[in-house]
Amino acid sequence: MSKVNIGIIGLGWPGQRHAEGIAASRGGVLYACSDTDDTRREAFVAAYKPKKTFVDYSKMLADPALDAAIICLPNFLHFPVTLAALGAGKHVFCEKPPTLNVAEMRVLQEQATEQKRVYFFGRQARFSGPLLAAKQLIADGRLGEIYFGKAVYIRSRGIPVGVGGWFTEKARSGGGALIDLGVHAIDSAWYLMGTPRPLAVSAQVFQKFAHHVKLPVNDVEDSAYGIVRFENGAQVQFEISWAANLTDDIPPSSWTGRELVNTILYGPKATVRLNPLALFEDQNGELVKVEIEPAGAQNPFALQMQNFLDAINGKAEPINNAQQAVYLMEMLDAIYTSSTTGREVPLA
Ligand SMILES: NC(=O)c1ccc[n+]([C@@H]2O[C@H](COP(=O)([O-])OP(=O)(O)OC[C@H]3O[C@@H](n4cnc5c(N)ncnc54)[C@H](O)[C@@H]3O)[C@@H](O)[C@H]2O)c1
Repeated sequence: MSKVNIGIIGLGWPGQRHAEGIAASRGGVLYACSDTDDTRREAFVAAYKPKKTFVDYSKMLADPALDAAIICLPNFLHFPVTLAALGAGKHVFCEKPPTLNVAEMRVLQEQATEQKRVYFFGRQARFSGPLLAAKQLIADGRLGEIYFGKAVYIRSRGIPVGVGGWFTEKARSGGGALIDLGVHAIDSAWYLMGTPRPLAVSAQVFQKFAHHVKLPVNDVEDSAYGIVRFENGAQVQFEISWAANLTDDIPPSSWTGRELVNTILYGPKATVRLNPLALFEDQNGELVKVEIEPAGAQNPFALQMQNFLDAINGKAEPINNAQQAVYLMEMLDAIYTSSTTGREVPLA
């Protein structure tokens, strides 16, 4: 396995998790880092000891020894910085959401193909123990053909701020709870269904909790609800919120308030639920609950990083690939359009 020199741009929570993923990997070297915030950058350097440090990410991208960039910047910078990194001949791993919209993501897909570089988007939950176990059950045919998925990511009090309050400002975030949490929830269900092509979307987003936000700009939704139809006839129903007056059967979050994150997939032979993980199986006409163990105990960020590195070294296909990022952004765009028009939005 050849060594891959990696530079991380944006050194908040996800940047730190990726540094740990690199440390646990075979072949990854934490070569460089970049952040304009001195405190963040200095704390990162002290903790993870990259070989080089940059304030200006374009100087890092110009370093010929750098092979790959991991982008953990505010959402509006995902497109220009991914484009610049691919243009500089680097492989790219960009945090979710891949871009602000599908038009941007199509440009990146083309650029990655042209430059013959790996494009990868961040979705560590695809590598988590419960999801890997569910994926194996589905691959083994235990559910039959999945016809319906439920995707839930709801918080009672969890409107994020980010450095400079960018999460609530549409120009810098692209949207609110949907583009932040919805992309996780919808992707988990859609990935387990085999990433079928989206066909139509009917959805509504809401801003009902502005009174919780003490920032100069808050022009994004704090919740989103709707349905995505796929070309194989299956559907996903999603329920997303940064803030909702949740009932007391929803558990407290380790972060703030209450939080429920779940994926449930229904097939004719069985239903799988990720949280708590279980299979509800038809056994000779009887509905039986089967306890399932999560697959492995490895850090999902480390497994995700290994797949990115293996893809760079030509040893595996990237699991989180550019075509899927295009479909995800198509779904997100259509959800916003459906909400504005009050109509179902057909996709290609
Ligand atoms: N995968 C996950 O579970 C997960 C979790 C949190 C955030 N994220 C994603 O990661 C991204 C970053 O989120 P965050 O919570 O760390 O945000 P943040 O605002 O806390 O951190 C962003 C960092 O980027 C730096 N930055 C901004 N502009 C820069 C520039 N031009 N050059 C260099 N550095 C610059 C900031 O100083 C800051 O340290 C977002 O896209 C978010 O959606 C993913």
